[in-house]
Amino acid sequence: MNNLLKGKKGIIFGALNDMSIAWKVAEKAYEQGAEFVLTNTPVSMRLGEIDELAAKCNTIVVPADATSVKDIENLFSVTMDRFGGKIDFVLHSIGMSLNVRKKRPYDDLDYEYLHKTLDISAISFHKVMQVAKKMDAINEWGSILALSYIAAQRTLFEYNDMADAKAALESIARSFGYIYGREKHIRVNTISQSPTLTTAGSGVKGINGLMDFTERMSPLGNATAEECANYCITLFSDLTRKVTMQNLYHDGGFSSMGMSERAMHQYNKSFDECECDKID
Ligand SMILES: NC(=O)c1ccc[n+]([C@@H]2O[C@H](COP(=O)([O-])OP(=O)(O)OC[C@H]3O[C@@H](n4cnc5c(N)ncnc54)[C@H](O)[C@@H]3O)[C@@H](O)[C@H]2O)c1
Repeated sequence: MNNLLKGKKGIIFGALNDMSIAWKVAEKAYEQGAEFVLTNTPVSMRLGEIDELAAKCNTIVVPADATSVKDIENLFSVTMDRFGGKIDFVLHSIGMSLNVRKKRPYDDLDYEYLHKTLDISAISFHKVMQVAKKMDAINEWGSILALSYIAAQRTLFEYNDMADAKAALESIARSFGYIYGREKHIRVNTISQSPTLTTAGSGVKGINGLMDFTERMSPLGNATAEECANYCITLFSDLTRKVTMQNLYHDGGFSSMGMSERAMHQYNKSFDECECDKID
């Protein structure tokens, strides 16, 4: 315990169960002396175990659908009443695609679902910041973070319309980060995390193969949810005050790799096992 967040107040979106990245962030933030309000949709509050987390972190859960401006306004208002003023950090740890859930391939998307994907997984980030700014809810040098994935830059098999949502999410971080930085000295960043076995992560088709691949490709190996939470804490702390408008890779080096020895070794095995053509 270093009390990195002592005296800081915040809002954490997206803790569903103890696998959630947001759950680990809440645990670490509490350990580091922060006070915060937890939030999730009413449905996920019923399905998940967020009340247990709230009890552990000595806090409350305020239901909010992050696509509803009214819900977000209520969330900020309850939070500011609780803390008697402005807050210092926000974690947006939200993602969902009905096209992925309903197994609609990228070249046969349902457009109603696509709108929902973009609204839930990207535009909600804009809504959170717009409400926060209008309510003047965040202190100078506050920090706002969302979680992203490398599918925003590179095409990954079966990531589907979530790739478009992540590209929009990262762009919103830059666009809002400029205005929030210029006017209020508030920083806005995204963390691009390794594939991680969570409820959302398990929805990605072939997640086990993908995680094996990225583990082999990354010199430091995949980053876990807990390690991601540690990184989030540094970005909420005063040690990173001049970091803004960035997409920060937290992926063991994966994003800078083309091919690794361990991945090549595994790939070559497929030639030993079958008679398929080898490209020399
Ligand atoms: N798991 C991975 O492999 C991985 C990798 C990179 C980035 N991420 C990102 O991390 C974030 C957190 O996901 P996770 O892996 O912890 O999974 P998770 O399933 O635990 O969390 C996703 C959360 O989004 C919430 N949510 C969905 N719709 C919502 C809405 N309308 N309003 C408010 N909340 C809503 C869910 O209730 C859930 O708590 C997501 O943005 C995800 O895309 C995950």
